[in-house]
Amino acid sequence: MALNPVLCLSAVDFAYPATPVLQDVSLEIAASEGVALLGPNGAGKTTLTRLAMAMLQPLRGTVETVGRPTAERAPEDLADRVGYLFQNPEAQLVERTVQAEVSFGPRHLGWPAARIDSATREVLAELDLTSAASTHPYDLPAARRRLVALASALVVDPAFLILDEPTAGLDRVARQTVCRVVRERLARGCAVLAVSHDVDFAIEVLDRALILQDRRIVRDGEIAQVLVDSVELGLPLPAPALLAQRIPLASVSWRAEDVARALAERCRSSGPPVS
Ligand SMILES: Nc1ncnc2c1ncn2[C@@H]1O[C@H](COP(=O)(O)OP(=O)(O)OP(=O)(O)O)[C@@H](O)[C@H]1O
Ligand SMILES: [Mg+2]
Repeated sequence: MALNPVLCLSAVDFAYPATPVLQDVSLEIAASEGVALLGPNGAGKTTLTRLAMAMLQPLRGTVETVGRPTAERAPEDLADRVGYLFQNPEAQLVERTVQAEVSFGPRHLGWPAARIDSATREVLAELDLTSAASTHPYDLPAARRRLVALASALVVDPAFLILDEPTAGLDRVARQTVCRVVRERLARGCAVLAVSHDVDFAIEVLDRALILQDRRIVRDGEIAQVLVDSVELGLPLPAPALLAQRIPLASVSWRAEDVARALAERCRSSGPPVS
């Protein structure tokens, strides 16, 4: 058992009225862990994050988030310690300026004005959104609008960050911003659970992967190993893995820097030229 886990699901069953989604799912995420939740469309990844955020309640079993049982709790009872990015971030944007949007959580938590101000300013700077503070979120391009939603999830300096498809629809610059920010938050001790179809993002930023399929967690382990072991499940391979296979390189990790190192060694040892 992890010490002070940020998320603990025990024997959870969940179904929508006509759709069984989770069956006997148990898992733990420890403080400062970076975890990818992967799996096919409709597997129940978003549903699992909604259970973690007390937006849904299990039919059977228990969910504890940041040490708080979610039974009879609402999302706002977790908002001081958990940041949540919706799969469709537009669903969470309600204010008329970026500044008001990002400070929404702290204002509703009753923070003093000076603390709200400084936290909002800091997170806008962290996400390169300072110049957009007075802009209406809907006047921003979609990629930057998603960063606004991410800023709203980050502003309380959460102990646990739940991100549902954080890189979907982002351009290269916004995607790099998300990668940097997630890395920095992990380094500061924030745990991250990121639902993602973007295995390149997941393998570059996160350490552990869970695969949800057929209502169960079917894989759980070190992310590169999980991806190697799960080829038959039809998940896309990360770009460095495709490169390593194509050359071919016997790189075990599939992280970009390891593949680059293996490629450099191959060149240095004057192996066959890469065509
Ligand atoms: N509010 C709802 N009412 C009824 N069924 C739902 C509801 N939300 C999701 N479902 C169904 O539950 C199953 C799991 O959905 P969920 O959105 O959790 O999957 P997902 O893994 O996040 O999928 P995706 O990768 O497409 O985002 C799907 O069959 C979906 O159609
Ligand atoms: Mg989803």
